[in-house]
Amino acid sequence: MTKVGIDAINFYTSDFYLNLEELAKERGVDSDKFKIGIGQERMSFPSPDEDIVTMAANAAYPIVQNCDKSKISTIMLATETGVDQSKAASIFVHELLGMPSTTRAVELKQACYSGTAGVQMACALVERNPEEQVLLIMSDIAKYDLDSPGEPTQGCGAVAILISANPSILELSPKTGIHTESSHDFWRPNYRQTPVVDGKYSTLVYIKAAKKAFAQLTEKSGVAFDEIDNFCYHLPFSTMGVKAHLKVAKSAKTEKPKEELLKQLDPILIYNKEIGNSYTASIYIALCSLLDNSETDLTGQKVALFSFGSGCVGEFFYGTVVEGYKEKLHTEAHKAQLLNRTELSFSEYLRFYQFKLPQDGSTFQLEHETRGMFRLAEIKDHYRVYSKCER
Ligand code: HMG
Repeated sequence: MTKVGIDAINFYTSDFYLNLEELAKERGVDSDKFKIGIGQERMSFPSPDEDIVTMAANAAYPIVQNCDKSKISTIMLATETGVDQSKAASIFVHELLGMPSTTRAVELKQACYSGTAGVQMACALVERNPEEQVLLIMSDIAKYDLDSPGEPTQGCGAVAILISANPSILELSPKTGIHTESSHDFWRPNYRQTPVVDGKYSTLVYIKAAKKAFAQLTEKSGVAFDEIDNFCYHLPFSTMGVKAHLKVAKSAKTEKPKEELLKQLDPILIYNKEIGNSYTASIYIALCSLLDNSETDLTGQKVALFSFGSGCVGEFFYGTVVEGYKEKLHTEAHKAQLLNRTELSFSEYLRFYQFKLPQDGSTFQLEHETRGMFRLAEIKDHYRVYSKCER
């Protein structure tokens, strides 16, 4: 059987963030509720001239620069912040990246989970034609109602992954565990800009899906909890991943002490605490965080990943880290990007939050605010005009 998995991975987030201490002050909440209770420090927030297309193109650009574009058979873009009900966001990205017309492009949806459906589909495509690669991008903006419990869990980001045969970073096992069940924990009807959320219930749905999916993974793969060195979780906020990990560990009947279980998660939380929820991208930004920040060499180690999307689908799958993986990472660029962001004041955050594109398709030029390479420049005749800024 062909070895298939992640050959390249890179993430992008907005240049702007709000410090959650500032949000706590404005909302009259003890800042420890955000820092300790939900485990978040800052949240990335997009300027009006950024959207899921620009973030996706920014995440994918460094990967596409370093590979043979003609080998990429497919671009899949997973999102729940779509910009059009019909045209796939991946076609805009296809154009911005200068991809050949022989590359197919499609958009995927199932809340925060769809990127992982994309991973499985991409692996299957590569199995069929091992000389081809699939570029998979997850890109989202997590936006909740102002002054709601979800507000401190906002964030945004995109991550691009190249799936190929004989991968350089993570070899993925075809054995996975899945839990699908209809739930009304978080959803966004077409007429709303923000989701309807039953927050506390959503955390219970997440934990149930994680336990069920892990049990099935063990049953199908024969891999036990204690044989897995590292765990990555979908992170709507840091403490969600921590709670789920302790519950999964308990139902898997491990004898590992709590301190060891908590320590296992330290490296995956680093970027999420800075960025916040990025829906589909979140779990793969957690994977970047692990690969970039782990104190030990991960070569040969198993990494299990739990992907979750409200509504709900959860999937636990795992891979093995490939020797020499560090050379393929974008660690320095990831760290520099987070360090160089600009802090928003509370009133600037409100201006970004409240910004709305014209709803009647009339011509509108956007102020240039992002420092990213790709930006939304204009709305004209009901369509979006993107531009590439040479740096
Ligand atoms: P809340 O009202 O902030 O909840 O909402 P809380 O009052 O229970 O406080 C949260 C924690 O802070 C509690 O800890 C408090 O004790 C603690 P816990 O009991 O849970 O261990 N706390 C403090 N700690 C230290 N110092 C203090 C202090 N005060 C309180 N002074 C809630 C929390 C999750 C409901 C809210 O953030 C929310 O609605 N979030 C959005 C939904 C969400 O993220 N759900 C997660 C699972 S669903 C999912 O992951 C899918 C998703 O990504 C969407 C998709 O799939 O598309 C969301």
